[in-house]
Amino acid sequence: MINVNDAFRTLGQNYLFSEVAARLKSFSAKHPEARIIRMDIGDVTRPIPEAALTAMHAAVDEMASTDTFHGYGPEQGYSFLREAIATHDYRSRGLEIDADDIFISDGAKSDIGNLGDILPPQAVIALPDPGYPVYYDANAINGRTRFVSLNATPENGFVPSLPQERPDVIYMCFPNNPTGAALTREGLQQWVDYALANDVLIVYDSAYEAFVRTPGTVRSVYEAAGAERCAIEVRSFSKTAGFTGLRCGYTVVPTQLKGIFSDGTETEIRRLWNRRQCTKFNGASYIIQRGAAALYSPEGRRQTKELADVYLRNAAIIRSGLSDIGIKAYGGVDSPYIWAQCPAGLSSWETFDFLLNEAGVSTTPGSGFGNKGEGFLRLTAFNTEANTREAMTRLASLRK
Ligand code: MLT
Repeated sequence: MINVNDAFRTLGQNYLFSEVAARLKSFSAKHPEARIIRMDIGDVTRPIPEAALTAMHAAVDEMASTDTFHGYGPEQGYSFLREAIATHDYRSRGLEIDADDIFISDGAKSDIGNLGDILPPQAVIALPDPGYPVYYDANAINGRTRFVSLNATPENGFVPSLPQERPDVIYMCFPNNPTGAALTREGLQQWVDYALANDVLIVYDSAYEAFVRTPGTVRSVYEAAGAERCAIEVRSFSKTAGFTGLRCGYTVVPTQLKGIFSDGTETEIRRLWNRRQCTKFNGASYIIQRGAAALYSPEGRRQTKELADVYLRNAAIIRSGLSDIGIKAYGGVDSPYIWAQCPAGLSSWETFDFLLNEAGVSTTPGSGFGNKGEGFLRLTAFNTEANTREAMTRLASLRK
């Protein structure tokens, strides 16, 4: 027999969203007439912004001619996209991030999973609970066994307290998946100060920054002084620009971020990530990177903002719909996610099944995001406005 990775036995049978999808498939097989409204995985429904589409069409045409054909690209991403990101996502907001510190990828999920390759196997990992399941699952697959939970509850406004014991790495996500909580600049500074004082690496998942509208709310970890010396930031075009099916994201590993090997030798962490990417990744598609770069043109910026605004309006519809039927809910202001309390006495999977069976509305059970997610459901604002309204009407009718 072949020896395999024992770590897989510590994981749930299925990845959270695969489990949800499996239950939906089985429900649909039994009820082919049911029109399910999907408010579970954060998959977008609006088409790609026109600016990106036009650029991708042109990039496809380039592939048709020997003179303009593109084969392997740089593993780190094309400079036209890295420069556009540095200029518009960082420098225009007063954040000094160099294009060379930006690594283009096929999405934030891959980067979050892959970052474990540059961490030591014995690293102690602090994870938000509830949190995006990839943080735990990917580290467990890498063989890590030492985890510290950072509890996010209604009592602390879903912003955990600093850890009691020093971890090696802290995962943070704001605007938060799944709770929809946002972070203030002062709040962020505390974490960065802690990380700097304790030689801790922050992996900051900023996949939902495009939904921030409230002044003073953090979009980037680098808004905190000193963060370039302790933090890696991961971002995605998936929710910002409807790229869930196209796949493009990026990770910032600042040159100032230093690590130490077990023999005491210092290194730039950026070098390790670069080495990892060059070994295991051949770069994101040229066509998709052209599409992503076009999002930074004046039209592209306007179109992506409009896209996020549509989903934020849906989030407001969900918040008021839930409130009208007496369900306590959080988030959905600077975020496309709404974190709703389950009815008393029902677990989050029981509530998921109840809503699916009785209303044909599919949600994500909070317990899939960690123990502290039990008793909650996550609803996404990424469906169409008509479906979002219809889902709220269906939920309201259950109360009658
Ligand atoms: C989510 O629903 O949490 C996200 O869509 C998952 C992902 O981006 O991988």
